[in-house]
Amino acid sequence: MCRSFVSLFIFVLVGLSHATTTNRDATMVMICDKLGLTFYTAAELTTIAKCIEPQFYKTPNNNTAILSVGKNCILSNSGNKALQAMSLYSNANNCLSPDSLDTVVTKLVPPIQTMTSTLVNKVKTTLSDCKKTNTQTADAKQETCLQKTYGVAKAAITLTYVDNTCKKVVNQHVSSAWWTCGKKYIPSVIKMDKYNCSKIVKA
Ligand SMILES: *[C@@H]1O[C@H](CO)[C@@H](O)[C@H](O)[C@H]1NC(C)=O
Ligand SMILES: *[C@@H]1O[C@H](CO)[C@@H](O)[C@H](O)[C@H]1NC(C)=O
Repeated sequence: MCRSFVSLFIFVLVGLSHATTTNRDATMVMICDKLGLTFYTAAELTTIAKCIEPQFYKTPNNNTAILSVGKNCILSNSGNKALQAMSLYSNANNCLSPDSLDTVVTKLVPPIQTMTSTLVNKVKTTLSDCKKTNTQTADAKQETCLQKTYGVAKAAITLTYVDNTCKKVVNQHVSSAWWTCGKKYIPSVIKMDKYNCSKIVKA
């Protein structure tokens, strides 16, 4: 009895340590712990990420498709936070009016992509190399290639990297009206004071 309990315990421990050591899971933990995302737990982020992955895997270069699937994944996988997410989305839209969160995101993606192109290319090259060379069956191949991609992304994205990108984006591409809304609503999602970017004052 006792021995089977102990082996069950070990089995669970091994299972848990395996579950928390995939690159996907580690990336989500990094986003929460290091980058300061507070709105979702790492486990919730993992669910959302898994929802977006098939589209990202299929069309890594189609931002329109990824953003549209991403938005649906966020809204439909927010569980008990769906109401909060919807209300934040609608408050942000009201604040940004006559613009909307969608138009602002759509406008900011190209400059952010240019600024982060070295990193983004590295991540996308990892994925496309894996898609070309991996010989597993479709599902196993997708999972292996995504895990590799997460590994590269996790190593490259640091707090300072995000802060520097944020500073450039806000200084060059964010209007003072947008920034007023950003300062009002971003802290509901992320620990903004971790970033020097949050200190930017727009005239
Ligand atoms: C990108 O995705 C959108 C939405 O799914 C689609 O309408 C569009 O044709 C795609 N663009 C390209 C270049 O494949
Ligand atoms: C913010 O600026 C300070 C002083 O220059 C610097 O030490 C710190 O690393 C910066 N924070 C981030 C997140 O890069």
